Formats: sequence, C-alpha cells, structure tokens
Amino acid sequence: MTSAEDFAFVDCAGLDTAAAYRLVVGCVVPRPIAWITTVDAAGRVNAAPFSSYNYVATSPPMLAVNIAQRAGDGAIKDTARNIRDSGEFVVNVATEETMEAMHATGFEYPPEQSEALALDLALLPSRHVRVPRLAATPVQMECRLDKIVPLGRGVNTLYIGEVVAFHLAHRVYDGTRVDSVAMRPVARLGGPYYAALGEIIHRPMLQRPPGGEGWTGAEKP
Ligand SMILES: Cc1cc2nc3c(=O)[nH]c(=O)nc-3n(C[C@H](O)[C@H](O)[C@H](O)COP(=O)(O)O)c2cc1C
Repeated sequence: MTSAEDFAFVDCAGLDTAAAYRLVVGCVVPRPIAWITTVDAAGRVNAAPFSSYNYVATSPPMLAVNIAQRAGDGAIKDTARNIRDSGEFVVNVATEETMEAMHATGFEYPPEQSEALALDLALLPSRHVRVPRLAATPVQMECRLDKIVPLGRGVNTLYIGEVVAFHLAHRVYDGTRVDSVAMRPVARLGGPYYAALGEIIHRPMLQRPPGGEGWTGAEKP
C-alpha cells in the first residue's frame, strides 16, 4: 500500500528559481518543442527552441510559449525581443530528423548573428507574416502576437500568438487530419534529454471532440 512516507514533500514557499526550474522540467514531461523563427529589425532570421509551450485555444487556434530571461545576465532573449518588436513569429515542429539542428539553435548566439545563417537552415517564405519558416520541418504555424503576459516574479513571460496559417507537408496531412506519428516529433524531458514517440495506445473516444466526427480509431493517430 502506498503511504505518505513514500513521497518527498517540497514546499514551494521560499523555493529559488533554479530549484523550481529543476522540479518543473522534471515533472512536466514530455514537452513538445516549438522551434521558433522570428525576424529582427535588420531583417536577420533568428531560430531557437522552446519547450515551455502548448496550444491554448482553438477558436481561433492559439499557441502560448513561456520565454525566460537569459539565465546569466537577465537580458531579454532574441526571440522575445523580436516577437515584441514585430508582433510575429512562426512555430516550426521539431522532429527526429531536425533534432540536431534544433538543439544547436539553443546555443546563445549573439543578437546580431542569425542562427538560420550560421547553421545554414533552409527557409521558405510565409504567407501572412514576414517571418520565414524552416523548410526541413513538416509543420509550420504562422503566428501573430495576441498577448504578452508577465508571470510571477518577472523571470518568465508568456507570449500568446494566434495561428493565422498552417503549412503541412503532404506526407503528414491528408486534407483533414494530421498524422502525428508520421511527423516523428521530438519532445523535451528534464535535463539534457529528449524523447521520440514511444508505443502508440488506442482507446475509443468517450466524448465527441470538435472535428472528431467519424473517427473510429482505425485511422493513424
Ligand atoms: C529543447 C530546448 C527547449 C528550450 N525551451 C525553452 C523555453 O521553453 N523557454 C526559454 O526561455 N528557453 C528555452 N530554451 C533555451 C533557449 O532556446 C535559449 O535560451 C536560446 O539561446 C534562446 O535563443 P534566442 O536568444 O535566439 O531567442 C530551450 C532550449 C532547448 C535546447
């Protein structure tokens, strides 16, 4: 039988930022990765990964990403500055195939250096925003900034964007549904660890989700 002694208890009163970070990134797993492209005032294309990220609305579709201050000097990250200045960003889905390049863009390049140029990332133009998308990823979402929400003691800020267009590679989209397995997304775990999709488990849906009509479970997930 499980008892209270089987658990460590960590009270968050007085918890410092580093300890809190270690706990949340270990507990909230696996996290999807938004590989975000932005453009600065000089037109340079910035790319960086963010796993404190999810969708937060469907009408219209909206994504949210938490961008922290730089750990060393507390400066604003290039992605955050560019989103504030331009009101635009693109979320590219990081995959097993693009993992090494995505990981490399997590390095703190100086603001005047474009990760897209430094790492020779192939770009494609977007339709509604000036920010280009990453050609090697199977899904890219063009976003317009909706809200900036400062969080807690000021280390973190939530950027909420409305998705104004999806770009979906034919190999992962049949015109109605996205084949998430074919996308081969990568996820972030705690510390220096990533994960690929594991076993796919099917259960009949218990409620009809919006757009889930006719979904039998025979389809690919
Ligand atoms: C997989 C991965 C996920 C990350 N997730 C976040 C995140 O959610 N929020 C954040 O502020 N930084 C995150 N980082 C760190 C940023 O990518 C890093 O600070 C980067 O240098 C920011 O680049 P920029 O200054 O060009 O925006 C993550 C790094 C990696 C490798």
